[in-house]
Amino acid sequence: LSTLPPIQLAEKYFQMFPEESNPVWVNPCLDKRHLAIWSSKKACNQLPKFLVIGPQKTGTTALYTFLSMHPVIVSNHPSGETFEEVQFFNGNNYFKGLDWYMNFFPIPTNSSSSYMFEKSATYFDGELVPVRAHALLPHAKIVTILISPIKRAYSWYQHMKAHEDHAAVKYAFYEVVTASDNAPKILRDLKSRCLNPGLYAQHLERWLAFYPPSQLMIIDGEELKGDPAIVLNRLQQFLKIPSFIDFTNKLRYVPQKGFYCQVTQQNSTKCLGHTKGRHYPPVDPLAQKFLKAFYLSSNIALSKLLTRLRLPIPQWLEDDLS
Ligand code: A3P
Repeated sequence: LSTLPPIQLAEKYFQMFPEESNPVWVNPCLDKRHLAIWSSKKACNQLPKFLVIGPQKTGTTALYTFLSMHPVIVSNHPSGETFEEVQFFNGNNYFKGLDWYMNFFPIPTNSSSSYMFEKSATYFDGELVPVRAHALLPHAKIVTILISPIKRAYSWYQHMKAHEDHAAVKYAFYEVVTASDNAPKILRDLKSRCLNPGLYAQHLERWLAFYPPSQLMIIDGEELKGDPAIVLNRLQQFLKIPSFIDFTNKLRYVPQKGFYCQVTQQNSTKCLGHTKGRHYPPVDPLAQKFLKAFYLSSNIALSKLLTRLRLPIPQWLEDDLS
């Protein structure tokens, strides 16, 4: 038996067990021994009670903005780096540690009255996100929004085009989604960001491997768009928010925008910015046909998953499967 000074010992250990070199942050408040050695300045409830996980382009900003109107629902401080989202559980931010994450949340003054949440739309399809989120927030509720994956893919393409992404500017949507494995890398990358998040069933199964169905709420993005107050009322029940507020008079449809917007205190309306609810031509029918076939098996799996969870099949899914 031999030993080494601490740093060399750690290096040696991780050489022998490289799979353990990535940390998994657990919740110090759920283990008496951790809690006993944790700084007394830390607050256990400075962590989110629910996560809005995306995927991108399904209406996550609308949901986030409307939820933030609720007096007891409090979101994270915006991150300057990642378009306001914290994006902790995916990517390299995770290695910045628990304190880094917790500092995005206000210290709650009255534990019973604030209900914190975080929205990072990239969580939905991040491979490691469910395992990491569950290790830290096993009791959190998980909220996801689904729209037709075809529509989502096209919205992402339009989003990238508006941001002057080279591939999106250069190639038509049909060329992007049908790009072969020999296509230029920028085209393949855009294709995968357009298509992969829309493989809903496989991503949801990964979440369901860690969280029970009772902690997961699946929102129909078309309902969120067409009647956000109903969705928000239902969401509050699911989250068991202590003080229920009716959103019916807090949101109003604005025909020029084509979406629901917030009603302000002066009784005017405040809509999301021009990057949300963009105007663009409808999906090219060839691309639509190709994608219907592309998503068929995944959509069948989604339909089975929803049936298993005793959830309704959204109209867009019926249409995509027809
Ligand atoms: P488009 O801009 O392609 O129409 P996310 O916030 O997740 O990126 O989603 C953006 C999408 O939210 C928009 O995509 C739009 O269709 C949808 N959306 C839903 N409700 C909205 C609302 N009240 N205002 C603006 N966009 C909304």
